[in-house]
Amino acid sequence: MKKIKKIGIFGFGNMGQAIFKLLKNRRDFDFFVYSHKPKKLKEIHYLETLEGLLKKCDLIFICIKPQDFKSLFLHHKGISAQSKNKIVVSIMAGIKSNRIKQFFKNCRAIRTMPNLNLVIGEGVLGWHAKKKYFSPVELKEIEFIFSRFGKNFFVSNEDDLNSITAIAGSGPAYAALFTDSLIKAGIKTGLSENKTKKMVFKVLSGTIKYLQSNKIDPEKFIEKVTSKGGVTEAALNELNSKEFKKSWERAIKAAVKRAKELSG
Ligand SMILES: NC(=O)c1ccc[n+]([C@@H]2O[C@H](COP(=O)([O-])OP(=O)(O)OC[C@H]3O[C@@H](n4cnc5c(N)ncnc54)[C@H](OP(=O)(O)O)[C@@H]3O)[C@@H](O)[C@H]2O)c1
Repeated sequence: MKKIKKIGIFGFGNMGQAIFKLLKNRRDFDFFVYSHKPKKLKEIHYLETLEGLLKKCDLIFICIKPQDFKSLFLHHKGISAQSKNKIVVSIMAGIKSNRIKQFFKNCRAIRTMPNLNLVIGEGVLGWHAKKKYFSPVELKEIEFIFSRFGKNFFVSNEDDLNSITAIAGSGPAYAALFTDSLIKAGIKTGLSENKTKKMVFKVLSGTIKYLQSNKIDPEKFIEKVTSKGGVTEAALNELNSKEFKKSWERAIKAAVKRAKELSG
């Protein structure tokens, strides 16, 4: 197996460009792009066809929208000779590995589920592949590439990507909802928007750092900071912690169900 050196990107929109930016510092990688009206950058070689991209590259990221892939599938017979043995990494939500292999015939498919935070290198990325088709050197390289995007989690069962979608794919929206709720409630107490935002951001990032550095269980942490009859307890009583947790269980269950439906 040869080393991964030539990186292809099919679809150079938000995610395709973000992937390029996160990997471009690796000097031994060459970048190739095939996309509609791609943004022209001098470090990139642009190709005229998808077949050309496959032929040229060792590893290709598929960064088009799932609906564009479905329509491509309807109008294109798929790629055979050029995709043989190539590493095809799909970031498309809800497109199963089998579909990727039906289109890019005889490729070695990796299905990933990244979240939006990948764009700043702070993403969570779940990935599934049949590891037996990759050499240890290739797997090390793939892990290196994914480590540039944030934290990555391999799953041997492809269905587990639905859970990762529900927790991490949609997670930034849940985190933003909590952030927004706390900011708006803070402003209602009379604090300025600017101060409240800064405070809430620091509370959230500081708490995560505290939990990580002290390796403390979140439930134990709540006990530690909540004194009987105190201020925190007054807020937690209002939230009804037990019911709050149950509603999260229901929300994640609904998200997993929807992820399953969307990936067919
Ligand atoms: N954005 C997120 O938060 C996020 C998170 C996780 C996963 N993803 C996945 O990332 C993928 C890309 O999302 P995105 O936000 O980067 O999409 P995007 O900005 O729309 O980029 C897709 C690019 O691919 C081009 N394209 C589409 N079909 C093509 C074709 N047949 N041939 C050549 N070029 C084609 C599009 O050109 P035109 O616009 O001209 O058609 C566009 O430049 C999606 O599959 C999505 O599920 C996104």
